[in-house]
Amino acid sequence: MSSVVGKAHPHESASLHVRGSATYIDDLREQHGTLHAAFGLSTCAHGRVRTLDLDAVSRSPGVVAVLTARDIPGVNDCGPILHDDPILADGLVQFYGQPIFLVLAESHDAARRAARLAKVDYEVLPAILDTAAAIAAESWVLPPVSMEHGDAAAALVASPHRLKGAARLGGQEHFYLEGQIAYALPREQECIHVHSSTQHPTEMQHTIAKTLGWHSHQVSVECRRMGGAFGGKESQSAQIACAAALGTWKTGRPVKLRLDRDDDMTLTGKRHDFNAQWEVGFDTEGRILGLRIMLASRCGFSADLSGPVNDRALCHIDNCYYLDAVSVRSLRCKTHTVSNTAFRGFGGPQGMFFIEYILDDIARHLGLDPLSVRQLNLYGDPAGEVRNTTPYGMKVEDNIAPALIAELAASSDYTARRAAIDAFNASSPVIKRGLALTPLKFGISFNATLYNQAAALVHVYADGTVLVSQGGTEMGQGLYTKIRQIVAHELGLSIGQVRLTATDTSRVPNTSATAASSGADLNGKAAQDAARKVKQRLVALFAEKHGVAPESVVFGDDYVCSGEIRQRFAELVGAAYAARIQLWDSGFYATPKIHWNKDTLQGRPFFYFSYGAACAEVAIDTLTGESRVLRVDILHDVGKSLNPAIDIGQIEGGFIQGMGWLTTEELWFRPDGPQQGRNMTHAPSTYKIPSAGDCPPVLNVRLFDNANVEDTIHKSKAVGEPPLMLAFSVFFALRDAASAAAGRAVPLQAPATAEAILRAIGGLP
Ligand code: MTE
Ligand code: MOS
Repeated sequence: MSSVVGKAHPHESASLHVRGSATYIDDLREQHGTLHAAFGLSTCAHGRVRTLDLDAVSRSPGVVAVLTARDIPGVNDCGPILHDDPILADGLVQFYGQPIFLVLAESHDAARRAARLAKVDYEVLPAILDTAAAIAAESWVLPPVSMEHGDAAAALVASPHRLKGAARLGGQEHFYLEGQIAYALPREQECIHVHSSTQHPTEMQHTIAKTLGWHSHQVSVECRRMGGAFGGKESQSAQIACAAALGTWKTGRPVKLRLDRDDDMTLTGKRHDFNAQWEVGFDTEGRILGLRIMLASRCGFSADLSGPVNDRALCHIDNCYYLDAVSVRSLRCKTHTVSNTAFRGFGGPQGMFFIEYILDDIARHLGLDPLSVRQLNLYGDPAGEVRNTTPYGMKVEDNIAPALIAELAASSDYTARRAAIDAFNASSPVIKRGLALTPLKFGISFNATLYNQAAALVHVYADGTVLVSQGGTEMGQGLYTKIRQIVAHELGLSIGQVRLTATDTSRVPNTSATAASSGADLNGKAAQDAARKVKQRLVALFAEKHGVAPESVVFGDDYVCSGEIRQRFAELVGAAYAARIQLWDSGFYATPKIHWNKDTLQGRPFFYFSYGAACAEVAIDTLTGESRVLRVDILHDVGKSLNPAIDIGQIEGGFIQGMGWLTTEELWFRPDGPQQGRNMTHAPSTYKIPSAGDCPPVLNVRLFDNANVEDTIHKSKAVGEPPLMLAFSVFFALRDAASAAAGRAVPLQAPATAEAILRAIGGLP
């Protein structure tokens, strides 16, 4: 039998990526007459535009047109849920760098130069920049939400130990290598085709239609691949796609809008930064008895995806731990900064970070090893007492965390290294080491049940080759490779016989974003469904022709067989075509079992959970605050892997991206002065993502041997987002080292930059 699934096939574009011949949107051959667009950005965080003088912009060489909100024929809004996201600010400016006009010129350079020549006069209004100011002003993008499970107040009163705490967790820039871009092409009879670097072609289609006052069938959106997205192109590609389409509508010419890196970082939203305050009650062994916690997130000027992002933070406040009595309040703060958005983990990492911080606090307060306190609090029934209901009412039925953690603790030699590090620290005055082992559990499915659907088309051509169209997008994560494997496996073909088309709304309609890590789960099942329909017809033909039982027919190695009878797949397909049998079909999938009540925040939002754990060892220099990650051991659960090479790539990439978030990546907005609210970290010169040299010298990654208990595609599990949270191990190892340096448990803020570490150990005010 063919075994295409589960094998370490290279990424379908790997050789194109390394040769530089994979086509991204900016590589498409430009059509004759293409115009280039650039946004003109506000230089005020909050204000009313008194006068907007665009004369110099229009007169600048090469400029063809300058558009403002008044030129939009339909609705000036690109918000994915609420309608509070203008494509071009109309009178009111709500963050420093907000687009207020669009220049169309003969070249990219001409458009960008012209965009700087506007003269704008603002009536400056007071700006709210951070969560503290927003809370004081009760400034929300969406009303506060609470999630209650048990009686937290009573449990706190009854607890033998209580601690209060607070922590700050920074945001994160996506830093996809390919910036935001769209290329709009006019088509006859009032239609537009848009190449968009987007995770969500369908939403781009709908939003463009709304902007132009058109219908969906006039707009098609295509995406072959993105050079990374990480959540940043889920909703926020819309402003770019709509602006390009608007330019095409206005001029009748192709329009390309490619954001320069500084503009991209200035005007697109990021991971939400959070502030939390809590009170936790626990027993002398460190078991949490009651928790009250407030999570405040900086959403920026509009709602964007902040509702579901914060809901996911709530649904991950438990991480792997049973919370008997918990009360969470979630504040969705409106600030005069960019509108924060989806980012790998979608709020989940933020919720989980705080429970890890709390457990770390408890262990340090009681003088216990943080790993044993973590293990004590895991879901499960250690004393026959069933502790498996999450705060949102879902039962944890696939809990492998205890086994996975135990295996990693053994393979990483946790106990012996703990003792060795303590001994090292006792005799090392300047360099201190730290160690931490942290687990993760991540819910898989979109919280909003309706998005958990997908469709695909499988075309078998008369020569036996196969073309698959499906709704998921490729951003480097390997979705196309996995779909190709799934369809090749179903039809018993070698992988080269199957290709995927670029994702296009005119092939598969009404798709969901490729997000929530569920790309392969949803689209893989849909593609399998379509392939099986064609296969059934081929089985029936083969059985009839050869007089064998349909159940005996198997597909593999490019052949169709029954016992000794063998026929080439391509030959059977040719015969089917001649017999006028339909050789293509559509497939559909809707995730079973899930339901969610967004008002009560109760239900079963997730089909299943993905798990993982990491053990990190770090060293800090107590004189400079600098740190190094020395060794990391990872054990991660992807169910039965569809492709171990791709999955390990996702695990390594996710871990490193999470490590950057929690260590070096710091966003800084000017708090006051004439450039108040301006993001000063808008380029790699000031915003530090990890580089190759930051990769731990020892990085052991293994897959946990496990099959999904639910009926997912080939019993696999989603892998896209969860590995980001493996990086908690690095942060808590740094806190461990800082606490060793200070001789007591010290608070550490994230990101744990050199400054933050020095501040924690008393080396900076
Ligand atoms: N991997 C790469 N190389 N590039 C990306 O942009 N995005 C991540 C993850 N892995 C991303 C990535 C995010 S945020 C998600 S939700 C998933 O991939 C989406 O793809 P999937 O559902 O197919 O896993
Ligand atoms: Mo991922 S944050 O769900 O795009």
